[in-house]
Amino acid sequence: MKKQIGIGLAAILAAGLMTGSAWTQELANDEESLALLMEEGETVYANNCAACHGVEGEGGGGPALVGSSVVEGRSAVIYQILFGATDHGMPAFAPILSDQEIAAVATYIRNSWENDYGIVLPRSVEMRRSAPPENPAEDAE
Ligand code: HEC
Repeated sequence: MKKQIGIGLAAILAAGLMTGSAWTQELANDEESLALLMEEGETVYANNCAACHGVEGEGGGGPALVGSSVVEGRSAVIYQILFGATDHGMPAFAPILSDQEIAAVATYIRNSWENDYGIVLPRSVEMRRSAPPENPAEDAE
């Protein structure tokens, strides 16, 4: 009887590890995490960004994201998405998207089309969410 309870508990714990929050902890600077973030980022981009920046990052209401120096700068791109440029037509996504969703969409735009700028992890977003810079656009790294 005691043993059965133990097994049941182990199953519940194992199931808990499969949920999103535990998954976030396991993301690292590796190919597997890159693939997961790219997949999630494609959806986040389609739902929140493509209307202004174009399906292929070619721009429209907002500037092109292909070859953008803001997209290339890890800090700059995170700040841009978190706090937007609300005086210039870009909404702030800090109240709307989670750290993981912002990491995913940042990773997606940095590694799609002709861009090849590397991964952004959720902890890098978390860090900056609580410490907004004076001027996000000028903080290049
Ligand atoms: C309502 C339109 C709109 C939406 C939606 C939008 N943006 Fe923007 N975005 C803009 C505008 C306009 C600018 C230029 C702001 C400026 O000139 O300061 C901009 C600028 C940017 C830049 C800086 C580009 C550069 O080279 O200067 C990045 C990166 C960016 N947006 C990413 C995103 C991402 C990622 C999303 C979705 C999560 C998104 N934007 C959603 C309108 C939008």
